[in-house]
Amino acid sequence: MELTYRPRRLRSGENIRRMCWETRVSADSLIYPIFVDETLTGRCPIDSLPGQYRYGLDCVTAAVRECQEAGVSRCMLFGIPAHKDALGSSAWDKNGVVQQAIKAIKAMYPAFYVITDVCMCEYTDHGHCGALCDHAVDNDATLELLCKVALSHAEAGADMVAPSDMMDGRVAAIRKALDTAGFTNTPIMAYSAKYASAFYGPFRSAAGSAPSFGDRKGYQMDPHNRKEALKECALDVQEGADIIMVKPALSYLDVIRECADAFDVPMAAYSVSGEYAMIKAAAQAGLVDEHRIMCESALSVFRAGANILITYYAKELAKAMQKGEL
Ligand code: PBG
Repeated sequence: MELTYRPRRLRSGENIRRMCWETRVSADSLIYPIFVDETLTGRCPIDSLPGQYRYGLDCVTAAVRECQEAGVSRCMLFGIPAHKDALGSSAWDKNGVVQQAIKAIKAMYPAFYVITDVCMCEYTDHGHCGALCDHAVDNDATLELLCKVALSHAEAGADMVAPSDMMDGRVAAIRKALDTAGFTNTPIMAYSAKYASAFYGPFRSAAGSAPSFGDRKGYQMDPHNRKEALKECALDVQEGADIIMVKPALSYLDVIRECADAFDVPMAAYSVSGEYAMIKAAAQAGLVDEHRIMCESALSVFRAGANILITYYAKELAKAMQKGEL
């Protein structure tokens, strides 16, 4: 048969296929989430996230060493404090759990890049992401608290701060607070399009951060919306975000693609706890090949336009990348 185009020609063997790969990935794109628990000595497995741990302050550097050994040089820190109150005041305590963890990591691994999640929900006794006023989160009052948190992280030595609260105006407020204190070189990675998602379930049981009443729909985005994500990203970029993020990843690949095309800042995606837990559960049930699903899922996020991926599989992915498996 006479055929001008035979796309299969470029698929005829491993060598030619690899030459034609359109998406090329690197372990430099990966960020590993680390949970530090102030109440813990040693490390404790997280039931909702098989293979993941909460680390005590005594062994958070061991978590970093494991990253380094796997070829991952960046982490996102989440804190689980000993004390919670209505305002979440231990979030900006200079001896708080995240602040101590940053110092411990930086003392031992100064070149390891430490990004901190800036939010209140792990620190408030009601589990919402800010200060309450009549059972709703008060946007403007929360901005002041977030600035204190971000600043305390920068003062402890964080390389980058990542606000995940979804308050309006937080990037501008945090940028101003950092600049005023002399942290003009500390970048902000904004959780710009963060959806009110059921995929955060396993994280909330891991971090003890589920809201005690209601939900987060008053501040996180509605999954029906796409243009609103462009708006949120545009606002964050205008306010000075250095990197924008879409979260979750797999159910929002369309949003990643649109935002990556629309803005000229690096694009991050967070492959969240529920995405990880679903793959683990399906693999444990013998339904899918975990390793291949992990690689294919990560690849889809990069193909959609993300340059940076935050994932609980960071270490396994880095090893797979080094072997040239994706
Ligand atoms: C804090 C925060 C959450 C996640 C990241 N930062 C939880 C939430 O918004 O409820 C979720 C991460 C994950 O599910 O892996 N606000």
